[in-house]
Amino acid sequence: MKNLKEKIIIALDYDSLQHAKELLEKLKGRAYFYKIGFELFTSCGADSVSLVKDYGCKVFLDLKYHDIPNTVYKAVKSAGKLGADIINVHASGGIDMMKAAKNGAEEASYAAGNHIDIIAVTVLTSLSDADVKQVFYGLKESAMPLPSENEEGAAAYGVSSDLALHLAELAKISGLDGVVCSGHESVKIKNTLGRNFKTVTPGIRLKTKNAGKAAGINGLGGDQKRTMSPYEAFNAGADYIVVGREITSADNPSEALGLIYADIDK
Ligand code: C5P
Repeated sequence: MKNLKEKIIIALDYDSLQHAKELLEKLKGRAYFYKIGFELFTSCGADSVSLVKDYGCKVFLDLKYHDIPNTVYKAVKSAGKLGADIINVHASGGIDMMKAAKNGAEEASYAAGNHIDIIAVTVLTSLSDADVKQVFYGLKESAMPLPSENEEGAAAYGVSSDLALHLAELAKISGLDGVVCSGHESVKIKNTLGRNFKTVTPGIRLKTKNAGKAAGINGLGGDQKRTMSPYEAFNAGADYIVVGREITSADNPSEALGLIYADIDK
């Protein structure tokens, strides 16, 4: 369990250092890895990375780079120098772009003296099968045979799952360390690409009735479509899980983290 606690990455989805600091204080000594994404980095920049590092915790810099190879190479190198432990890019940027990202990370690692994992975003966990068909295959909704709304599990996510596996294969060919993917894709990716190829799983939701408020924030909390509980995600082979609103939107984030631990322990 101790080992798994270090594999829980908490998303610092805030717009100020003050809010981020409040959460870091509340979870001090109980959480070890934080994710800094668009909101905090756009608002506060490199100071947000320093803040987390000052608490002795690791940083997943979730800026999902997607640009021409040279630009991504330079961006990743800069991100690595800030002290990020995991950096991500979009796999759909292609092999040359991903290789450039890896080169940037290796150069930054060499300078900083630590290992930096470069992982690729495959298919966003907010995209359903219908969304994937529409975005990547140009199919109109009326032309799509869709799985039942209530159906759960990998079978309901065939198209997303196939695309995620394909993009993960490209990431592996490019020499990346792993991918961000939904728990539904983790098993297939591990079985095909090997246990050492890391999977990082967001879209984590507790199944208990009173857990967190992740489902109702500003009407946007239900944006995640391919979700799993913490236990299910680790059981499906995830190396790390990313937990956002289940903790950040809870009245008592420390208690919410306790619920996550309890779920994993069951
Ligand atoms: O609040 P919630 O638990 O849904 O937050 C998930 C976090 O993981 C967000 O910060 C989101 O940007 C991030 N993420 C994701 N899907 C990806 C990559 C990152 O949900 N493919």
